Amino acid sequence: MLIAKGDLVNIRELRWGDLKYLQKWSNDPEVAFWARGVKDVSYTSAGEFRRWYYSRSNSSIKRFIVETKDKKPIGSISYRDYDPVNKVVVLGIHIGEKEYWGKGFGTDAIKAFVKYLFATLDINRIELDTFDDNIRAIKAYQKCGFKIEGVLREARFIDGKFHDVIIMGMIRKDFEKIANRTQI
Ligand SMILES: CC(C)(COP(=O)(O)OP(=O)(O)OC[C@H]1O[C@@H](n2cnc3c(N)ncnc32)[C@H](O)[C@@H]1OP(=O)(O)O)[C@@H](O)C(=O)NCCC(=O)NCCS
Repeated sequence: MLIAKGDLVNIRELRWGDLKYLQKWSNDPEVAFWARGVKDVSYTSAGEFRRWYYSRSNSSIKRFIVETKDKKPIGSISYRDYDPVNKVVVLGIHIGEKEYWGKGFGTDAIKAFVKYLFATLDINRIELDTFDDNIRAIKAYQKCGFKIEGVLREARFIDGKFHDVIIMGMIRKDFEKIANRTQI
């Protein structure tokens, strides 16, 4: 089932057959580097991946598939750690098919997903973090209305070097301003 539509992508619920895509993307060192800041990927077989995935299926993460308008799965987008007291969720995305990087697909997916989250969840805030070298991600989030709220200096040690963690967030007021301006 589709949960959100952008201009370039649709976002749909996860299906059993998507595990092979999630496995492929999670085994790709370049995707893993930008998404999780890890350089050495521990490759998993289909069976191992399935077991790992289902061992986490009761966790607080809700994952969806980002697909092109002709239904090609290109990545995944998720929210996790819903906090009903403070009304916050944490957003995550990876476009796993690398030929789709830098062409607006990620920004389009984030915009559509943010709209879905504010429309369907009782939340006031969406937050995330990334690391200083991930300029593409920082720019994509900013284009969607996220603001840099803080920097944890040298909080991650990635590939032999300390990196700043960039904390970003969007509150409902920001979203409503953008929505009024652009009629989304
Ligand atoms: C981060 C991600 C979702 C962004 O989506 P995308 O479709 O690649 O990005 P977009 O094309 O929508 O926008 C990226 C912006 O960064 C710029 N950009 C693209 N490639 C870049 C690069 N190599 N270095 C710096 N900036 C870059 C683009 O020009 C664009 O900005 P502009 O519109 O001001 O020109 C996607 O690249 C991705 O999934 N990457 C791998 C995993 C990851 O980093 N996940 C996020 C972890 S927090």
